[in-house]
Amino acid sequence: MIDVQNLTKTYGPRLAIDNLTFHANKGEILGFLGPNGAGKTTTMRILTGYMPPTSGTARIAGYDVVDDSLEVRKRVGYLPETVPLYPDMTVLDYLIFMGKLRRTPNVVDRAWEVLERVGMAERAGSFIGSLSKGMRQRVGLAQAIIHKPEVLILDEPTIGLDPTQVVEVRELVKEIGKEHTVILSTHILAEAQQLCDRVLIINQGKIVAEDTPQALQLRLQGGRRIIVEVRGDKIDALEKRLSGLPGVRGVGALSQGRLEILVEENEELRPLIARTVLENGYDLLEMRLAEMSLEDIFLQLVGEESEAGQEQGKPPAEGEAQSNTPADEEASEEG
Ligand SMILES: Nc1ncnc2c1ncn2[C@@H]1O[C@H](COP(=O)(O)OP(=O)(O)OP(=O)(O)O)[C@@H](O)[C@H]1O
Ligand SMILES: [Mg+2]
Repeated sequence: MIDVQNLTKTYGPRLAIDNLTFHANKGEILGFLGPNGAGKTTTMRILTGYMPPTSGTARIAGYDVVDDSLEVRKRVGYLPETVPLYPDMTVLDYLIFMGKLRRTPNVVDRAWEVLERVGMAERAGSFIGSLSKGMRQRVGLAQAIIHKPEVLILDEPTIGLDPTQVVEVRELVKEIGKEHTVILSTHILAEAQQLCDRVLIINQGKIVAEDTPQALQLRLQGGRRIIVEVRGDKIDALEKRLSGLPGVRGVGALSQGRLEILVEENEELRPLIARTVLENGYDLLEMRLAEMSLEDIFLQLVGEESEAGQEQGKPPAEGEAQSNTPADEEASEEG
């Protein structure tokens, strides 16, 4: 369904993506996982037909994103990083407007249909400016599917949402994903795990790993991390006791009262840890399994690769200018 060969994009002297080759099968949810500046948005904008690559090809349902960009746009729904919503329009009017831009037949009926789909029918008459971020994201998803595209490209669909909204939007993406081929970008492994059939890890414009989320995690996680928050005097004494427990590989202090405990993969040590905390006279305020973050994975991957003797580029400079152009869709209607 999506076929990308040797895709490269430079912005002036800056190499944003470097010779990417990958594909996505029909019905699949493919994740792009990568840190800031990895090239996720750049790749997505090329796939939507809004920006040409410097070299290489990308095809969607057999259509070339440059040569057949109109055919591509008919088949692709895009949720940009910053959805260009109009605060003074009502949700319904906005969807009708977007639907008309994409020549959607029976646009009013279809607008209501997608509103139902994303759970926003009750807010059809609300001004977009009055919606919460999570609701706006739903409207963003609604505009992405209004013209019934086969392919959906979602750029960080849950970024900036509160935890409840994150859960809701993920559910929605999962639902919608049943009917579409989806590429979604994220920097959260847990999100990729929950949503994606397959994940590409991208760094500095290159694919550094490609696998199912399960396989990636198995490959990357030699153990598990448990975070506990305790209250009591002399936490370092507790730290020592915990380090001495069988199955514990190491304990580190994170911040006041919070400890990070690395344990063997296959052992359920939480009951023992809890008992140890309590029996030594500390209060246990919290205990949880830590999510593996992209940074963790990333460090491991980079570590693995340098062990294998491969050259790694320098990481992007701290505080580097952000490249996101919120003008997105309309602004780049050049073709
Ligand atoms: N319009 C632009 N002009 C110049 N450089 C750009 C432009 N857009 C992106 N870049 C550069 O290209 C590289 C890839 O950026 P891109 O936005 O694709 O990354 P990303 O993976 O989406 O990052 P983020 O997680 O921050 O959204 C970065 O080094 C960025 O600075
Ligand atoms: Mg981006």
